[in-house]
Amino acid sequence: MIAITRKAGVLSLLLPVLISCTDTPVREEKEKDSFTAQVDSVLGLMTLEEKIGQTVLFTSGWDVTGPSMDDNYREYIENGSVGAVFNAFTTTYNLELQQVAVEHTRLGIPLLFGYDVIHGHRTIFPIPLGESASWDLGLMEKTARIAAVEASAEGINWTFAPMVDVARDARWGRIAEGAGEDTYLGSLIAKARVKGFQGDDLAANNTILACAKHYAAYGAALAGRDYNTVDMSENEFRTTYLPPFKAAHDAGVATFMNSFNDLNGVPATGNSFLLRDILKGDWDFDGFVVTDYTSINEMVPHGYARDEKHAGEIAMNAGVDMDMQGGIYMKYLKQSIQEGKVSEKDLNDAVRRILDMKFRLGLFEDPYRYMDKTREKEEVLSEEHLEVARDAARKSMVLLKNDKEVLPLKQGVRIALVGPLVKDEKNIIGNWAAAGDREGTAVSVFEAFEERLGKDNVLYAEGCKVLGEDTSGFKDAIAVARKADVVVMVVGELEGMTGEAASRTDINIPGKQKELIKAVKETGKPVILVLMNGRPLTLEWENKTADAILEAWWPGTMGGYAVADVLYGDYNPAGKLTVSFPRAVGQLPLYYNHKNTGRPIQPEDPDQKYVSRYLYTPNTPLYPFGYGLSYTSFAYEVSTDKQTLVPGETLTITAKVTNTGERDGEEIVQLYVHDKVASVTPPVKALKGFEKIFLKKGETKSVKFELTAEDLKFFNPELEWIYEPGMFKLFVGGHSDMPFTHTFELKTE
Ligand code: NOJ
Repeated sequence: MIAITRKAGVLSLLLPVLISCTDTPVREEKEKDSFTAQVDSVLGLMTLEEKIGQTVLFTSGWDVTGPSMDDNYREYIENGSVGAVFNAFTTTYNLELQQVAVEHTRLGIPLLFGYDVIHGHRTIFPIPLGESASWDLGLMEKTARIAAVEASAEGINWTFAPMVDVARDARWGRIAEGAGEDTYLGSLIAKARVKGFQGDDLAANNTILACAKHYAAYGAALAGRDYNTVDMSENEFRTTYLPPFKAAHDAGVATFMNSFNDLNGVPATGNSFLLRDILKGDWDFDGFVVTDYTSINEMVPHGYARDEKHAGEIAMNAGVDMDMQGGIYMKYLKQSIQEGKVSEKDLNDAVRRILDMKFRLGLFEDPYRYMDKTREKEEVLSEEHLEVARDAARKSMVLLKNDKEVLPLKQGVRIALVGPLVKDEKNIIGNWAAAGDREGTAVSVFEAFEERLGKDNVLYAEGCKVLGEDTSGFKDAIAVARKADVVVMVVGELEGMTGEAASRTDINIPGKQKELIKAVKETGKPVILVLMNGRPLTLEWENKTADAILEAWWPGTMGGYAVADVLYGDYNPAGKLTVSFPRAVGQLPLYYNHKNTGRPIQPEDPDQKYVSRYLYTPNTPLYPFGYGLSYTSFAYEVSTDKQTLVPGETLTITAKVTNTGERDGEEIVQLYVHDKVASVTPPVKALKGFEKIFLKKGETKSVKFELTAEDLKFFNPELEWIYEPGMFKLFVGGHSDMPFTHTFELKTE
């Protein structure tokens, strides 16, 4: 049956538990799909040290994102001091480590293997921010599913994803890992990704535990500086930052990771309001909470704990179940319990939660089930997965500008490819690319063009590097541009310029790339910019200069093919921004659903003094939330079925959308609503629904949105979730910056 039984001592101790695990009706009851009886039996056999061991997570040392612990983790596993390992993958390596846990410890409790499987495991999909621009929930569920299939074949049973932090400040490098600035859309995406990773059955050998992170409000780090302070009203917290976590929870997410920041003066790692009151209290979350990397230790420099031991006590008392990499629980928890600073009851609760997940994954039945060489060989980087990666990349891309229909490229025109990222295979898979290969597996733009046009038919010059001062390559770039009819320039950021600890104060296209664009543009040839980056960039100058701009993000393993598919029109771009692109970095944080203020700009007098505005820059973004062009065009005709809505009834909004252009295409039809007066100042608009539709050239389809009073709820000053009677405005369209067209009244009596 299981490898655990190979060890005599273990057999005698655990066999009754394991037998009950396989035969028990508890699993069939499926009530909570938990293993209470089995967990309690295992817990009953454990010493205090073994219990503490289950709360300890160490990196294997393969890749680390902070201070690395010593190499003794094997020894730790062997003496039962570690219950989970991260940054270890491949069937052989993880098998080896699992064998230590299962065959060389007293109880043989299997390890959890965690990893940052963020946007694919080996087949890499676009970065999450990019993928969110597809607004395609099915696609996002599918890519998470594939990521889980690949990761689970290679030893991993737990991903530190999805990141569900709402992010509105493009300086923050981690904006790349989320779903953008909108809470409603972000919540739906959170659900889709959790479902994708966890599937319908955690006990299947190709599903893994997901982790909603970073709990909470990490996306609001002051000034976009990573790890920074977060301070906001509880109303704003509950309205904007909390819902995606609730959505992940509702989708059954197995674990939560706390964030590095403090929230209103209390570090998230020691925040019992977040962990005990909301998560484990109000929501009745029955999974476990892991810290972020050494975040218990960091409560000392936060000025919240006297020393590390104190920090550990605060964390355990606040409801943190597992210590990632800090070594604090390992070092001090026993003493803290003996001194009565932490109760063994709380430790037992943490251990129960962790063991429960090990049972749910089926690890007690077969601890080696996630190390499957056959699956690894057949499924990792399979043709099918690569095809989905290509599709996901195309669907993520956002066409920001297309003057005189320079795109799609006409067959037969002579193309020059210019820029530091044309031949790139390393950055193209983006930040946090898990086990993605940075040398050779990903398809560069150059390769894709060469495949289409034939070897030696592609003019190419690098021009300059992404960073640095060297402009000696400009002359080659100008020379190839002169020989071409159209120049496609692939420029952007290095992957390490986004992600953790990668905040920027300047979000321009970096280095000499702008000068390169200028030099190439001066040849008089049409210039198409293909951007590879992980955050909104400031593109005012580029928007004036380039003939077309395609935001390709970091598109992943099949990125090069996807860029060519879109540029040649084999795929008609349909992506829409899930985050506003500012005109200037000084506008940040910038988001479409801001409040009006008491002195809003008057559109008819934009230069008026003493209104809420900047002196030399408009308030508006360069490209708004929800925006993205297509090679075709769409016309909208919107109607509502009533002007008065009462609770219990439905307001139906019908949008007749017609493809008025010359090509088939997809449109993301978006509904925005504005509450005119409320007991808490309302946002100027809020997304309330969307649908992505495909329309053949000339075709018309009707999209129906159904609004009820429930959709109009908000937190009042007493933090009650209510609707209030009054007037509302709405519009349906292709992006967030459109005029309201309809009004209705919500009548409650
Ligand atoms: C730190 C990051 O904040 C978190 O998102 C990640 O999961 C861990 N390191 C583990 O790599």
